Amino acid sequence: MKTIRDISTLREVLQSFRQDGETVALVPTMGGLHRGHMNLVQLASEYAERVVTSVFVNPTQFGPQEDFADYPRPFDTDRRRLSRGGVDILFAPNHEEIYPFGADDMTTVSVPGLSTILCGEYRPGHFDGVTSIVNRLFNVTAPDVAVFGQKDYQQLAIIRRMVADLHMPIKILAGPTYREKSGLALSSRNRYLTDDERKLAPELYATVCDCRDQYPGSGKALVDLEQSCIEQLVRVGFKPEYLQVREAGDLSVPDKDSRHLVVLAAARLGETRLIDNVLFEVNGS
Ligand code: PAF
Repeated sequence: MKTIRDISTLREVLQSFRQDGETVALVPTMGGLHRGHMNLVQLASEYAERVVTSVFVNPTQFGPQEDFADYPRPFDTDRRRLSRGGVDILFAPNHEEIYPFGADDMTTVSVPGLSTILCGEYRPGHFDGVTSIVNRLFNVTAPDVAVFGQKDYQQLAIIRRMVADLHMPIKILAGPTYREKSGLALSSRNRYLTDDERKLAPELYATVCDCRDQYPGSGKALVDLEQSCIEQLVRVGFKPEYLQVREAGDLSVPDKDSRHLVVLAAARLGETRLIDNVLFEVNGS
C-alpha cells in the first residue's frame, strides 16, 4: 500500500491504474478505523480493481463546540489496518492540500433541504462541510465507485442527491452498519463512552427497532409513536435530539402510500452523540 499526501502524486498513480484499464473505488474516512470501515473497504474491492481510502479529519464538518480537536487520530494503527485490508492507496492529505485558500474561504457545495433537517437541524453547517469535502475527494480521485456507511444514513442520502444533481459519473454504494453483539453500531465516537454509558448505548438501536416494529402508518399515530420512543430514550438516560420515521429515498415525512421507510435517531449519552437508523418496508393493504 502506498501512502500519498499530495494531490498531484495521487493523480499520477491513479492515471497509471487507469492506463492499465483498472477501475478505482474510493472509501472516504476520517480515520479511527473499525471493522465497519474495513467492511466498506471489502465492499469497495468487490466493485473495483483498485481501492483508495482517504483519511482526513475534515474541520469544516465540525461545529465550533464539537469534537474536532479530540477526534481520534490513530494514524499508524489505521495505516496498518488498511494495508492488511488490501487497500492500494491511503490518501492522507493535510489541510492546506485540501483547502488551499483556507477553510474559512472555501468554495462550499451545499445540498439544500436534505442538509437542514434531522441531524442538520442540530448540527448547522455540518452537511455542507461533508458535501464540500466529499466533492473535493471526488474531484481529486475521480473514482468509478465510492462507498459510504449506511450508519450515517442522512449523509448517504445527501451524497446520493449531490451525485445525481451534479451528474457525477460515480456509483455510490452503501455498506451495511456493523454492530456489536449488544446491537450498538460501531462508531469512532464510541470510544468516548464511559463503561456505564456503554452498557446503556445499545438501547438506542433497541428503541429504533421498537419504532420500526410498531409502525402504525402515517399521521397522528406515528407522531405519538415517535414521541413515546423519545420518552423511552429519556427514561434510559439519553438526551434525545430526534427519533423520526422518514421515506428512505428522500427523507420526507411518510404518508399512507409510503413503502420504503427508515427510522432515524440521534441522542446524547453523557458527552457522546450517537446516531442510528434502521430501514424497513411496509406492504400496501
Ligand atoms: O463519514 C465520514 O467519516 C465523513 O463524514 C466523511 C464522509 C469521510 C467526510 O469527511
